[in-house]
Amino acid sequence: MDKITSIRGFKDILPGETEKWAFVEEKAREIFTNFGIREIKIPILEKTELFTRGIGEATDIVEKEMYTFRDRGNEYLTLRPEATASVIRAYLEHNMHESEPLTKLFTIGPMFRRERPQKGRFRQFHQINVEMIGQKDPRVDAELMLMLVEFLSAVGLSNLKLEINSLGCPRCRPAFRETVISFLRGKENGLCPDCRRRLKTNPLRIFDCKVETCREIISLAPVILDFLCDECKEHFEKVKEYLTIFGISFEINTKMVRGLDYYTQTAFEVITESLGAQNAVAGGGRYDGLSKELGGEDFPGIGFAIGFERLISMMPMKKEDFVKHPRLFIAALGEDAQKFAFTLTNKLRMAGIRTEMDLSDKSLKSQMKRSNKLSCTYTLIVGQKELEENKAELRNMEEGTQETLELDNIIEKIETRIKGLVP
Ligand code: HAM
Repeated sequence: MDKITSIRGFKDILPGETEKWAFVEEKAREIFTNFGIREIKIPILEKTELFTRGIGEATDIVEKEMYTFRDRGNEYLTLRPEATASVIRAYLEHNMHESEPLTKLFTIGPMFRRERPQKGRFRQFHQINVEMIGQKDPRVDAELMLMLVEFLSAVGLSNLKLEINSLGCPRCRPAFRETVISFLRGKENGLCPDCRRRLKTNPLRIFDCKVETCREIISLAPVILDFLCDECKEHFEKVKEYLTIFGISFEINTKMVRGLDYYTQTAFEVITESLGAQNAVAGGGRYDGLSKELGGEDFPGIGFAIGFERLISMMPMKKEDFVKHPRLFIAALGEDAQKFAFTLTNKLRMAGIRTEMDLSDKSLKSQMKRSNKLSCTYTLIVGQKELEENKAELRNMEEGTQETLELDNIIEKIETRIKGLVP
């Protein structure tokens, strides 16, 4: 029979990698907690309408990348392509605004987009997502970016560039949109078929196009920052001011529009040269109109998402740095010793000591080899003779020294020796 394999663009994350993931999650939880951000867990499946309305009908995600299907009750459902729309839905559904003026939430989990898989791009990928909802204060924008930069450097990432832009608001953006349309008039033939279509449906998306000819044309287009209304201008100035106070270096990228339609004012990305074409490790921005779009009151918000796989691929630490080796290997020879070792192994594990043994009745030599391979700190050697004498040999694998221990209170004796070692 044919072997069943995983789906294209869906990846297993194996032991060796998962330890890195756990480390990153732990760091995220620690830093986010310091910033007063609490965890929310949201469903992976939502009503399709949440995303068509939230992200925007004329975006790549909604037009061609969503995993949408009708369930057995004939309802249109979608595997979430991102988390922001869901977080806002939950915020509104549970009236979270009632408990605090600024609700700060994070969520970590898988997202699904049917994109063309390539380096750094998958169909199931993971995001670390943070949202701050309820206040439209530029200090919130700066705090969020400060925390993002802090977190990325805490997990060892370097050579990052923070790019920022302002996308204006429903008052100032329409004039910009019209100017872009006029600018592109007569240049349609130079645009790719997608952008020719975008010109009618969502012209600002053309700024995001990766096709060289489109990029050349759009590079000469007017820039949104020249069209900002006074309020948007002031907000952007304040954001830059606070970033500067924190000593965060940033660059203004007037061409950045982001791939989702809900953004207003501040937009940002953290990019790196080391990822190739998929160069954004994180992206986010303000989305003051989203909660209204989803049928709620007018709650401003801002957030970001980090691409977990991309972050992991950029970490300088090696797999080995994260593996927790067993402390002790019990090499047992003979039936009685094996029985004793099996009980002791599990008692030690219950006492919090990482312990391994061999279940296949191998020679002492091969058991020692296994202990070495697992990088155990100690090996406890027990044979029939030792057992009869109520003794065992404890070998320090790093120093090559050996001592004889009485088996009474053996757990405490091992605990004492392990105490003080790096966890
Ligand atoms: P996004 O820019 O679509 O924003 O995605 C954020 C990050 O997720 C990207 O910068 C990238 O690192 C990662 N990512 C996206 N697609 C893929 C993929 N196919 N494979 C691997 N990694 C990927 C959002 O999703 C917004 N919800 C962010 C946000 C939160 N804005 C406000 N709050």
